[in-house]
Amino acid sequence: MSDTETLLLGQVLDIHANPFEIPPEDAARVERRGAVLVRDGRIVDVGAADTLRAEHPQVRVEDHGDGLILPGFVDSHAHYPQTAIIASWGKRLIDWLNSYTFPEEMRFGDAGYAAEIAARHLDLLLAHGTTSVASFCTIHPESVDAFFAAAEARNMAVVAGRTCMDRNAPDGLRDDAQTAHDESRALLERWHGRGRARYAITPRFSPTSSPEQLESLGALWASHPDCAMQTHLSEQTDEVDWVRDLYSGFRDYLDTYEAHGLLGPGAMFGHAIWLTDSERARLREAGAALVHCPTSNTFIGSGLFDTARAMSEGQIVGLATDTGGGSSFSMLRTMAAAYEIGQLSGTALHPAQLLWLATEGSARAMRAEDRIGTLRAGSDADLVVLDLSSTPAIAQRVAQADDIWEAVFPTIMMGDDRAIAAVYVAGARVGPGREGGHSRPVAPLIAASLDL
Ligand code: GUN
Ligand code: ZN
Repeated sequence: MSDTETLLLGQVLDIHANPFEIPPEDAARVERRGAVLVRDGRIVDVGAADTLRAEHPQVRVEDHGDGLILPGFVDSHAHYPQTAIIASWGKRLIDWLNSYTFPEEMRFGDAGYAAEIAARHLDLLLAHGTTSVASFCTIHPESVDAFFAAAEARNMAVVAGRTCMDRNAPDGLRDDAQTAHDESRALLERWHGRGRARYAITPRFSPTSSPEQLESLGALWASHPDCAMQTHLSEQTDEVDWVRDLYSGFRDYLDTYEAHGLLGPGAMFGHAIWLTDSERARLREAGAALVHCPTSNTFIGSGLFDTARAMSEGQIVGLATDTGGGSSFSMLRTMAAAYEIGQLSGTALHPAQLLWLATEGSARAMRAEDRIGTLRAGSDADLVVLDLSSTPAIAQRVAQADDIWEAVFPTIMMGDDRAIAAVYVAGARVGPGREGGHSRPVAPLIAASLDL
């Protein structure tokens, strides 16, 4: 037995196949009294508690009772520098950037402030059960160093990069094509592949980058193709019109990236709402990811992303908070918003589909599904344990539940950080209860059988 072997007991919900490709119930397996065996920070096995205990009689056990064990949530698009301006009132995208975002991002040349907000952001994510994030930083290298250092201190698998802008942004937040390339390259060489960190080449979006800047970042990606690339695409109609004016010789918004070498596997396009059929086809053929940011899309008034359509087209789709344009740090709240937008678009997304998007879907968007976002053996043991009766309002609904989906859906729709009973990062317990090993007490789940 390894010293670092632990058996986590609870209800285990393993969504082992894509629930958009087969009936959602068939894509999931639930172990009512289940277990996850963790060794040296990795998942070794998932199964029935009795079986795994019998096979590993000496193993250290952490019992989460009726808590629901899932992969930790993966947020595939966020802006950690906007943590302190979340929920800023009354503006649509371009005015919101100019009024709230850019003044706040100016502060990140101060390494101390960047470190404070990076720590605050990652601790908020962990408190909400999110164990991985793909984040934009600011133009300041200090902001990138601060974020990767804070993630390294927590051993979190993150993707991040220096946000590049050389026009349509205030003094102090603009660079030029060469500086963007050189500073991005230096940061990439420092952080990409160090521990669990991965670098994303990060032009903010076409309105704030000249063609020369996009070209220089495309060249950088060509020389480091295993990095990610993250940006924004077709979030609001005014923005799409603006890009058409700024890039008059280009076929469409996507072409402003494509023509500069910024479309390919590993590209993550935030929002991607107002796409033409041609753009949709090219995104799919390229193996790029669309990242759905539902609380942001309603908060900033952007539009309705059609998840069911994107999945049926064979797109790679991640789910994300987009804080601080998004109005919550919680992937539970984000799944709820995705469900509501699905309803407005004519599709009731199944809880298995929502949970899959918040874990493996986002991990795929980040090209990290071999390490995070699933319960597959060999994956890193980033896990969340949910209390499915975390508030009286949720508990009274769950008391009526007849199956696992009815038991978990109230937490998706109504849950928040109170539903997070325990969090593990690479096998190590973090957050509440980590010293004494006491998790928040998990209320008895439901009387009915949870067999599918
Ligand atoms: N488009 C360009 N920058 C941003 C940003 O910071 N947030 C959102 N939601 N959209 C953007
Ligand atoms: Zn964004």
